[in-house]
Amino acid sequence: MRILFKNIKELVQVRTANLSFVSGKEMKELPTIKNAYLLIENDRIVDFGSMDDCPLTQTDEIIDATGKMILPTWCDSHTHIVYAGNREGEFVDRINGMSYEEIANRGGGILNSAKKLNEISEEALYLESEVRVKEVINLGTGAVEIKSGYGLTVASELKMLRVIKKLKDNYPIEIKATFLGAHAVPADFKGNKEGYLQMLIDELIPKIAAENLAEYIDIFCETGYFSVADTELILEAGKKYGLVPKIHVNQFNAIGGVQAGIKFNALSVDHLEEMRDEDIEALKGTKTMPVALPSCSYFLSIPYTPARKMIDAGLPLALATDYNPGSTPSGNMNFVISTACIKMKLTPEEAINAATINGAYAMGLEKEVGSITIGKQANLILTKPINSYAFIPYSFGCNQIEKVYLKGIEIKY
Ligand code: NIG
Ligand code: FE
Repeated sequence: MRILFKNIKELVQVRTANLSFVSGKEMKELPTIKNAYLLIENDRIVDFGSMDDCPLTQTDEIIDATGKMILPTWCDSHTHIVYAGNREGEFVDRINGMSYEEIANRGGGILNSAKKLNEISEEALYLESEVRVKEVINLGTGAVEIKSGYGLTVASELKMLRVIKKLKDNYPIEIKATFLGAHAVPADFKGNKEGYLQMLIDELIPKIAAENLAEYIDIFCETGYFSVADTELILEAGKKYGLVPKIHVNQFNAIGGVQAGIKFNALSVDHLEEMRDEDIEALKGTKTMPVALPSCSYFLSIPYTPARKMIDAGLPLALATDYNPGSTPSGNMNFVISTACIKMKLTPEEAINAATINGAYAMGLEKEVGSITIGKQANLILTKPINSYAFIPYSFGCNQIEKVYLKGIEIKY
């Protein structure tokens, strides 16, 4: 199946060379071709260029994209979209003055979701989760990382990871799985954090590795959750089974989690709302991608990641949603991009780079997705008619997506 898109007003994020990610000043550059064509064959991008050079080859379908743009689909490198039930009660409690921390301390928060997850069957969990997968695809996401971490028991963590695997088998979106057993200490291990971590290390991690249920390992490195020493313990245990770190750090307190991640060659360090100068310094020259989650800052009314300062210091940055029932009940990458521009002062070019090529890198998928490059998956956003790509972040709360193609096929749920 060959499809030719022609008269594309602007083909955005075209990359010819092999590129892992962009950092610092490079993030301001977003290569495009105006009045372009794009040829895809089956699931891959095979050719693109200016309409002046549009080939007259045989195709199965020609799509006239006059007035519309084409971008690679969004790469959402941090989500928790496999979960049971919602937590709008806690949302109301926060409106009425309780803090996220106070809610967690009374047994709500992550433990509230863990309780719901323990009660639900694997089938029902799959059905709830696939609704969210369909939702994010309709919103232009073509690759997503999904974490466990609401099970907090052997059986329930495996249940979450098996649901992720099933979603991966059944949907055209690229999915990467992360084991986040160390998300919170479960009620059964109250006062015995060490025992819980040992159970993860001795029992759960070997099972996950044996069933090949995760590529990445995560831990919530935060005051009141897991320390830097706990983080190193878990990352070391994961490393023995080839699980690469992608970790939650510096959400409420900067306690050295960034440095622990770098020490263990983390693919990404995520959240970073609280960044000390030494954390920014530590990331320089590493292969660890900093990931900002502006929808989480928005929803919890906590500080935004100091992205401007980080990019100006020469760092790369990826943007992701953090879609989860507690801190970010939204998987809308279009909103993430707008919020990054409005609240974190990223330019549209920086935000689009952060949400595509850099997000792909933060999932180890930079060879497959994240740019319009020959040989990559034909994962495309065809926009509505718009004047410029800056209109995408500008029109916050809406999206400018007319059609989404994953692996060369138009998808609409
Ligand atoms: O990334 N911070 C840790 N974990 C999630 C939220 C967990 C929850 O409240 O359910 C996050 O924000
Ligand atoms: Fe998260």
